[in-house]
Amino acid sequence: MAAISAPRPSKTESYIDNKRKEDIRHANIKAACAVADAIRTSLGPKGMDKMISTASGEVIITNDGATIVNKMEVLQPAAKMLVELSKSQDSAAGDGTTTVVVIAGSLLKQCLTLLSAGIHPTVISDSLHKASIKAVDVLTAMAISPPKTDIEQSIVVSDYAQMDRILKEERNYILGMIKKIKATGCNVLLIQKSILRDAVTDLSLHYLAKAKILVIKDVERDEIEFITKTLNCLPIANIEHFKEEKLGYADLVEEVSLGDGKIVKITGIKDIGRTTTVLVRGSNQLVLDEAERSLHDALCVVRCLVSKRFLIAGGGAPEIELSRQLGAWSKVLHGMEGYCVKSFAEALEVIPYTLAENAGLNPITIVTELRNRHAQGEINTGINVRKGQITNILEENVVQPLLVSTSAMTLATECVRMLLKIDDIVTVRGGGKASFDGKGCGGSSRGRFEAANQRRQKNHHNHHQEEEEEE
Ligand SMILES: Nc1ncnc2c1ncn2[C@@H]1O[C@H](COP(=O)(O)OP(=O)(O)O)[C@@H](O)[C@H]1O
Ligand SMILES: [Mg+2]
Repeated sequence: MAAISAPRPSKTESYIDNKRKEDIRHANIKAACAVADAIRTSLGPKGMDKMISTASGEVIITNDGATIVNKMEVLQPAAKMLVELSKSQDSAAGDGTTTVVVIAGSLLKQCLTLLSAGIHPTVISDSLHKASIKAVDVLTAMAISPPKTDIEQSIVVSDYAQMDRILKEERNYILGMIKKIKATGCNVLLIQKSILRDAVTDLSLHYLAKAKILVIKDVERDEIEFITKTLNCLPIANIEHFKEEKLGYADLVEEVSLGDGKIVKITGIKDIGRTTTVLVRGSNQLVLDEAERSLHDALCVVRCLVSKRFLIAGGGAPEIELSRQLGAWSKVLHGMEGYCVKSFAEALEVIPYTLAENAGLNPITIVTELRNRHAQGEINTGINVRKGQITNILEENVVQPLLVSTSAMTLATECVRMLLKIDDIVTVRGGGKASFDGKGCGGSSRGRFEAANQRRQKNHHNHHQEEEEEE
């Protein structure tokens, strides 16, 4: 067992780490892989759900990677990094939270092989970095522009001060206003919630009722744009601007009871805007919560398109293409670097493999055929989970934002590189708490680190009498 002394070995020399460092690194990688393996089955449209039961007795059913790892009580510090990884992806892209962890897990597995082949962690780390930059380039080259959307930037801000002043006027003034409103033929008023005080006074409500004008008050300010767009009407901040042409038209405005609450339903809208209301209903809170999480992911996909206006094919097509192109590139590279890039390329196959597996298809056949088709230049061929076969996935309209894929690639690589560079775990004992998390690492793991420390001291005197201790 040779400990590494000051000069770093050249890239061609094989790297032999000291046993303890190797142990720590392996333990870390194994722990992180365990997290990745745990959520692998929830990847893709045919992925399974997880039922999570928390210590407080709360039960959550979800398919969302970020939620699963977040709720898992991971204690091992390296495994926790995968939890953080999923969170980073969630804030960077909002979707792809399972993908990022699965890719990281697959990369880590490849790293184990590379490490055991005697390649220095720094060489692996640098090569992975290089590969991930190349991967982003390849993905960007594959991207297509999304169809044009009509997200308008016009925001109508009401003049509160003016609105307030008007409402302070005498009842005559109120009557005057109602007269003007009535004159336009308006019989339903939607009134924005005021941040200062009640938007409508009792008196005005009274007169409005007398004039047979239905009032829906306390409309949230951030819903105004949505509502005006849907109803094809315009917001009015000033009574002087209350004109007939600003009104929308609907056959029926009614209040309906739905479950426990009441909603205002507007039907038969003339020239209805291209908006959608999603009313999520479910038999229980668990279903509702998961539906909301799925909607959140879907909305994040739209958000991604605003920041990076490109889409790429889904269904494992980009990963296979990446794997193929990086594999070809690795042959041009020299020495260990080429070897590491090749491993990176192979690691990416985990996505199509898992998608096929989760859809009940034969993963080996599918991945082999995919590779074959991509080699023939069909770069958009992916797994069509609905038909259970390989097709041009763009024709199926299975697309995802470029940002989701590039961010998953970059973040996963970063996380793996960070894990590779850790060669020791140091537990600081302060106030009886372990340092890695507020809740404490748990007695058993601390005991293990201490045992390891003692063993290191012993080994310092005698390198050759080392006892293996595997977890
Ligand atoms: N209809 C589909 N057919 C094939 N693959 C799909 C389909 N819908 C999604 N996918 C693939 O599933 C993966 C995303 O799965 P998902 O469960 O949403 O995980 P994540 O949390 O990573 O977003 C992506 O690789 C995407 O290309
Ligand atoms: Mg998703």
